[in-house]
Amino acid sequence: MRALVCNAYGPPDDLVVEDRPDLEPGPGEVAVDVVAAAINFPDLLVIAGQYQDKTPPPFVPGNEAAGTVASVGEGVTGLAAGDRVIVMPRGGAFAERCVVDASKVVPMPGRLDYEQAAAFGVVYGTSYHGLRQSARLGAGESLLVLGAGGGVGLAAVELGKVMGARVIAAASSAAKLDAARAAGADETVDYAQEDLREAVRRLTDDRGVDVVYDPVGGDLAQQALRGLSWHGRYLVVGFASGDIPAFPANIALLKEASIIGVWWGTWLARHPDEHRANLRELLAWINDGTIAPKVTETYALDDFRRAFHRIASREAVGKVVLRLRD
Ligand SMILES: NC(=O)c1ccc[n+]([C@@H]2O[C@H](COP(=O)([O-])OP(=O)(O)OC[C@H]3O[C@@H](n4cnc5c(N)ncnc54)[C@H](OP(=O)(O)O)[C@@H]3O)[C@@H](O)[C@H]2O)c1
Repeated sequence: MRALVCNAYGPPDDLVVEDRPDLEPGPGEVAVDVVAAAINFPDLLVIAGQYQDKTPPPFVPGNEAAGTVASVGEGVTGLAAGDRVIVMPRGGAFAERCVVDASKVVPMPGRLDYEQAAAFGVVYGTSYHGLRQSARLGAGESLLVLGAGGGVGLAAVELGKVMGARVIAAASSAAKLDAARAAGADETVDYAQEDLREAVRRLTDDRGVDVVYDPVGGDLAQQALRGLSWHGRYLVVGFASGDIPAFPANIALLKEASIIGVWWGTWLARHPDEHRANLRELLAWINDGTIAPKVTETYALDDFRRAFHRIASREAVGKVVLRLRD
């Protein structure tokens, strides 16, 4: 099988496509012939050796894919060769075959193509967990999403609307804000053009927002924190800007606000039943057409450098996917 391999921590350009022996499933595992795998910003951190969980090289990165079951290991029931599935391994997805624990395999909804199916798990999983379990977002509340044209941001916009919130999408370009509007955003703020805090004041009649969803960090985080309402909740989702913000505690005191960390990958391992319940709801919304993965670009495996560059350069809108086989 061909696989994208990280032989030493560094930039995505240093990854190499290698031929490796086909993987076989052990007990409780499933081998999947990968058709498409989605890239997420954390993949850049993982291959740079900057992610909170470190994998020693050499390794195959990639946390989500879609394809067909090649074979199942001893003790696996309910799955058979040829089934179309979504897999969410922790590493190993950027290869023509990956092996995962059967618990990380989800039947692929008929509505989705392989690219969309590959792009389903991480962004909806993260954003739904953040909005539901962490923020307890309620219908009628207001939600400010930073990085609203990116992977998790666009999913947060879409899910915020499904949950009945008034969604203010904030991003750095017209293309990203167009995507956010198409995903249901009620209001948009271009923070490359306008002061975020002033815009939030204007759009909320000085009240502030109930929930901030922040995958960006940096200076924007400071502005957004000050845009929270009384009893507001601030979700710390990521630091795509490269700058981890330090929050002044007096702002939390003055608003009785909560600053809440979100780490979906670890939460789902600690709370598997709640994770499965979230997935069931998300898949139901996929199946009835309420939500749909926003794949905007697909690249062949050999073209991986261009694909990663789109994310690293902040140009990507929605999801970027690698196609592993026809
Ligand atoms: N906590 C969790 O469980 C979890 C799960 C998945 C992802 N994450 C984190 O969430 C963040 C976003 O992930 P993603 O996969 O959605 O990424 P993405 O699709 O690349 O989106 C990131 C967004 O961040 C903004 N950004 C600001 N400065 C940037 C920079 N220097 N480089 C790149 N983007 C920049 C961009 O929006 P604008 O140009 O509009 O500012 C971009 O659209 C990452 O920090 C990731 O590690 C966390």
